[in-house]
Amino acid sequence: MSGHAIEGYARGWFAVCFSEELPAGTTRPLRYFGQDLAAYRGEDGQVRILEAHCAHMGAHLAVGGTVVGNKIVCPFHGWCFDGEGHCVEIPYSKKIPPRAQQKTWRAQDRNGLTWLYFDPSGAAPPFDVPVLPSYGSEDWLPWNTSTYHIKTHPREIVDNLADRAHFRTVHRTEINEFDFSTDGFTATQFAKGTSYLPGGGTDNFASTTTYHGPGILLMNFDGALKNVMLFVHTPVDENNVDLRLLLTLKIVGSKEKTEGIVKSYMDNLRSGFEDDIRIWEHKIYRDPAMLCEGDGPIGKLRKWYRQFYGPPQQGGLSRPPSLGTAE
Ligand code: FES
Ligand SMILES: [Fe+2]
Repeated sequence: MSGHAIEGYARGWFAVCFSEELPAGTTRPLRYFGQDLAAYRGEDGQVRILEAHCAHMGAHLAVGGTVVGNKIVCPFHGWCFDGEGHCVEIPYSKKIPPRAQQKTWRAQDRNGLTWLYFDPSGAAPPFDVPVLPSYGSEDWLPWNTSTYHIKTHPREIVDNLADRAHFRTVHRTEINEFDFSTDGFTATQFAKGTSYLPGGGTDNFASTTTYHGPGILLMNFDGALKNVMLFVHTPVDENNVDLRLLLTLKIVGSKEKTEGIVKSYMDNLRSGFEDDIRIWEHKIYRDPAMLCEGDGPIGKLRKWYRQFYGPPQQGGLSRPPSLGTAE
């Protein structure tokens, strides 16, 4: 079998908070990938993410630390670090120890979320967070959001993309057409079907749902209404995940009228998603799964997903995207 075992954390872009949760001039402690991280936003509006614990005596930079200009000052003895993690000032010493340096992570804001690129090797990201034309557009509502803390492994969430057979039982949805393909760092599901709504009625839909790397799921859904959804998950540790769900509806008629619909739409979406969560939190992972006709290409999806684990020089990530197909 090609690829490698799923151990540790996938390499890729992961959402660590909503951008508005980290205003300019503030810090935010984060715990992801089994480690503590310190995020802060400089006065220039740029996010920066450092290892949390100060090189000096280990205080958490984002718990009581302050932002000065575009630098962060440790709350314990006032050592000051720049966005590259270098200690640039110690208020009581002229000499700065040459190894006074915090590890840093690539970070950026896009589509209303703050993202970290996770790769312990420090290699440059081979793909980027997709730009969503609906974000900030006058034709679409602002995001409606929910955050979940889920006791599961990311591979369970990702499996869902190829799992054709669970739609009927978990989501009360009949799938008439289903297709799945992978291309380098993306994996895409096309589906056409009918949803049976919890409050009665049906919705005939066509959807295109794509993973952009291991942690960003983008869904374009065309039914009674058009919507764009992001399901972005980030591992807290090897058994827990934070998942943020973001929904926007295309404005039909007036903004007010569409806003009047969005709450019940979001409630439906959440309830369907919570049905998935209940399964994930109590299941075990079978590998290989005992598959049968009609199950969907779970094996193909798992093979695609494995490229994000293990040493980059052995995986798809060291190859350019055009050559990166995991087939
Ligand atoms: S622990 Fe950070 S300055 Fe001392
Ligand atoms: Fe599902």
